[in-house]
Amino acid sequence: MTRTARAYTNIALIKYWGKKNQQLKLPYTNSLSLTLDRFYTDTKATIINADKDIVYLNDKLLDNTQNKRILNYLETIRNFYSFSDHFQIDSVNHVPTSAGFASSASGFAALAAAINETKKLNLSRREMSILARNGSGSASRSIYGGFVEWQAGHDNASSFAVPIDETPDIDLSLLSVVINQHSKKISSTVGMENSVKSSPFYPNWVTLVSSEIKEIKQAIAQKDLQKIGEISEHNAMSMHALTLSADPSFTYFAPETIRIIQLIQELRRKGLFAYATIDAGPNVKIICTKESLPKVQTYIEQQLSDVTTVVANIGPGIQYI
Ligand code: PMV
Repeated sequence: MTRTARAYTNIALIKYWGKKNQQLKLPYTNSLSLTLDRFYTDTKATIINADKDIVYLNDKLLDNTQNKRILNYLETIRNFYSFSDHFQIDSVNHVPTSAGFASSASGFAALAAAINETKKLNLSRREMSILARNGSGSASRSIYGGFVEWQAGHDNASSFAVPIDETPDIDLSLLSVVINQHSKKISSTVGMENSVKSSPFYPNWVTLVSSEIKEIKQAIAQKDLQKIGEISEHNAMSMHALTLSADPSFTYFAPETIRIIQLIQELRRKGLFAYATIDAGPNVKIICTKESLPKVQTYIEQQLSDVTTVVANIGPGIQYI
């Protein structure tokens, strides 16, 4: 019986933003994330007697343009491990786009784990992280639960994620605030490339991340929630400053994004625990405590009519079901 692999998505508290090697997805800096329990991808790989892979996503057959990235990735895996089998991939995404998360982190982590299972590769979690990274950088972190650090490394073998604390006893929850509007998307790949190439602040970002990683790890060890919140928000804002200072300038923010940032500042002035983090899109994820979350959620929903909110808690690493 071939088991299905399940991988959960993660939110970066210290962001990965910029590759020093595009093909291998080697980042300029380490990054650090929290795995989430609400959003995950289930993937099963079956060896087929064919010379092409076929991919079903949410029970729909993907056509060649839709799944080019997945097909290229499967080819990479065949080259890595020197086998020639082709697969039917059945993947179900429990990461609704309406929840404001990209599915690439859980998607490529689940795919790497599914191939490991079907081909009996017996990969260690470190090797699985390397394999997942080749699909999508952030996927390297979804192999583990809880707090995870992706160590940048300098080649394929040295760039992988490691667990920091997989089951942290810490009072943190995440409120995802999804802005119900469709803006033109700039992929994270293109956004990073433009930031690296043309933001005069990019070298400062590399320096900043190395000190913020150290600080946040210390804050995690000490369960210093306020420090974790402050560093995470500052890191996210600094990443978005790279997009604004690129040439040409661009931003992932929508008008509502700024409005939510302002509301979070207001909530803090009222004494509530709330810090913002934002990925390559307009939605805002609010880092809360169990106590502050319902109040933050009610306030945001009262102030803004056209948003949806979703709650997530700390989640586990790769599972086989
Ligand atoms: O792995 P990608 O290509 O989806 O890039 C992820 C980029 C951010 O989500 C903005 C940051 C991160 O570290 O996850």
